[in-house]
Amino acid sequence: MSTLSSDVAAFVPAFDPLVPHPAHVRDPYRVYRQLREHAPMYRSPHGVWVASAHREVSYMLKDANFGRGYFYFENMAERLGPGILDQPVYASARNMMVMKDGDDHLRVRSAVARSFSLKRVEALRPFMRSVMNRLIDDALGKTSFDVMLDLAFPLPSAVICHLIGIPEHDWPKFSQRSANGSRALEPAPLSPLELFEQNKAINESHEYFQWLIELRRREPGDDLTSQLIAAEAEGKVTRAETIDNLRMMFVGGQETTVNTIGNGLLALYQHPDQLRALKSDMTLLPDAVTEMVRYDSAVQMTPRQARVDIEVAGASIKAGETILCIVASANRDSSAWPDADRFDISRRNSYPLSFGGGPHYCLGAQLGQVETEVALQTIFERLPDLRPEVDNPRWLPGTVVFRGLQSLPATA
Ligand code: HEM
Repeated sequence: MSTLSSDVAAFVPAFDPLVPHPAHVRDPYRVYRQLREHAPMYRSPHGVWVASAHREVSYMLKDANFGRGYFYFENMAERLGPGILDQPVYASARNMMVMKDGDDHLRVRSAVARSFSLKRVEALRPFMRSVMNRLIDDALGKTSFDVMLDLAFPLPSAVICHLIGIPEHDWPKFSQRSANGSRALEPAPLSPLELFEQNKAINESHEYFQWLIELRRREPGDDLTSQLIAAEAEGKVTRAETIDNLRMMFVGGQETTVNTIGNGLLALYQHPDQLRALKSDMTLLPDAVTEMVRYDSAVQMTPRQARVDIEVAGASIKAGETILCIVASANRDSSAWPDADRFDISRRNSYPLSFGGGPHYCLGAQLGQVETEVALQTIFERLPDLRPEVDNPRWLPGTVVFRGLQSLPATA
């Protein structure tokens, strides 16, 4: 199963998971279809498995024979020497819940899970609404604006700052758009310059979070930092885990939500009939957001590591090997969704794999979806004549894991 038929082989240069080819960034779905049809368990030239069909992706995300492992860290240590893992960027990433497994993972995840309950998330709607109203007021003062920069980006960063308990005067520090925080999650190794920049950014953010922890120790609140300080006092998490999991909220919850809003708006404005149907019946909004998340996922893939030697759909995977589970491809598999390439907000009972699965299922899934709902609702109400430029989308270059628009110019 790992050998490719010749027509898929023609696509392989466009799907090297370590090299985000511009053609792939523009339209990854063509390559995914080829992979699903001809090599659903494909072994890339780097020895990483690539899973693209719904059945296998869904199975490996949830099955206990697969963990997150340290993803490419172990391979990296083998290639570049164990010292690489002492670099701040990797030492920090290893403390994040997303890189942990089993009891260790549960210990850290349960220390923060309360903040992400549906009740907590729903209670944030008025706050999100007021942020969106303020952003739209500012955008209306301009003749044209960028939906990504002016509307989509600032909402998730304000929500995370609020959630973590960052004082409002410091929010601008976190409102610069940059995919830097997520770069270390890409399969391609960091260049020496990127490594230097990432380490510098991590050291700065550690300094800030250390300060925030001291502030919240003196003035506790109903926020994630105070919650983690309490978990530290009970011996449930270490100081390093507190800091790195606060940072995890920005890494996991910022670009992902920005791009969910952007990719969703793009899909809607590229399908005017669906946009009209939604605007004429806003009770469709939650299902429409689910369809946006399925159709063009902000996270295209998430890794798993085999814990044992195991056979999956004819592929012999060895213990310790990494599998890139392409959730965005699984979401377009017609064995799971009829006419899967069609954007259709009337789909019901749809469960896209965009938020992963199993014990690592995205902790912020509801939060991100509610943010997207509020963003869309406020945009439709306040900017009914919004005209975004959707003909030649400007995708963020250089990423295979995350998918989003660099900009979406518009007039209102
Ligand atoms: C709306 C867009 C979002 C998408 C598409 C998304 C997607 C994902 C994916 C694919 C994973 C990995 C799951 C796996 O491997 O099984 C994940 C994990 C995670 N996400 Fe999200 N996410 C989103 C929003 C958020 C938000 C808003 C937050 C928090 C502020 C967040 C926090 C996390 C955390 C903490 C994890 C790690 C969970 C764990 O390992 O237990 N995400 N997300």
